[in-house]
Amino acid sequence: MTAITIKDQEYKDFCRFLEAQCGIVLGDSKQYLVRSRLSPLVSRFSLSSLSDLLQQVISGRNRELRVAAVDAMTTNETLWFRDSYPFTVLADKILPELAANKRPIKIWSAASSSGQEPYSLAMTVLETQSRRPGLLSSVNITATDISQTMLDTCRAGVYDNLALSRGLSPERRRMFFENNGDGRMKVNDKVKRMVNFRPQNLKDSYALLGKFDVIFCRNVLIYFSPEMKSKVLNQMAASLNPGGYLLLGASESLTGLTDKFEMIRCNPGIIYKLK
Ligand SMILES: C[S@@+](CC[C@H](N)C(=O)[O-])C[C@H]1O[C@@H](n2cnc3c(N)ncnc32)[C@H](O)[C@@H]1O
Repeated sequence: MTAITIKDQEYKDFCRFLEAQCGIVLGDSKQYLVRSRLSPLVSRFSLSSLSDLLQQVISGRNRELRVAAVDAMTTNETLWFRDSYPFTVLADKILPELAANKRPIKIWSAASSSGQEPYSLAMTVLETQSRRPGLLSSVNITATDISQTMLDTCRAGVYDNLALSRGLSPERRRMFFENNGDGRMKVNDKVKRMVNFRPQNLKDSYALLGKFDVIFCRNVLIYFSPEMKSKVLNQMAASLNPGGYLLLGASESLTGLTDKFEMIRCNPGIIYKLK
């Protein structure tokens, strides 16, 4: 069987389409990625070939197909309590500091993937509440992603053993999950009702989301151009209440992208505070 090839022009046009839709920059040699991620859509949309699919996506005739193509091109790698220090800093420094304001605390997980990040945030809040009763009155978590498939997974809150084995301690598994009856586990209602899920393309305006005290924007900027990163970070600054915090992924930084934050070293880890 011959491998399906993608013509140079089709690849370039698809890269332009993808960056315009969601900011993801593929680079020059990711044809294999496009092939492996979009091929399943050929039969799902009853198309004749990958080339047919690419042409329809690029020409914009089929909205459902365009949305599915963007969804398929997202990388959704995630785990529970990823890098651990952001959740420790949240519990030990950020939440106690914000609690002094005596108003509801709002947290945004801006690229929530399959839910591990926002649910880890909810678990951190619940643990803080039981360790320091009376400290926190109300905490609200908004979780957004561009991928509808990921948002569906988030809302279901059901995870198999492989997903559960990545970053979750046995204690937290006992405390925050219940059996789903099919060998998988489901986040319990206490955790679930703290998080609201909604679609949000980080390329669009965030005005409808309201203001937040803490934003987790982790492991998504890496896919964007420097211009898009700057735009996202400046919009996030505008979405934070005075004194609000921004947390990035362990390999991400603000250098050369925005001057709206001051860097705070937490040992381990770095967080950013709105100036
Ligand atoms: C690698 S995951 C990161 C998940 C989580 N924040 C973490 O650090 O574990 C990246 C997520 O960003 C989302 N994403 C990519 N481009 C986006 C965009 N333009 N707007 C919103 N979400 C986007 C993807 O759908 C994916 O779920």
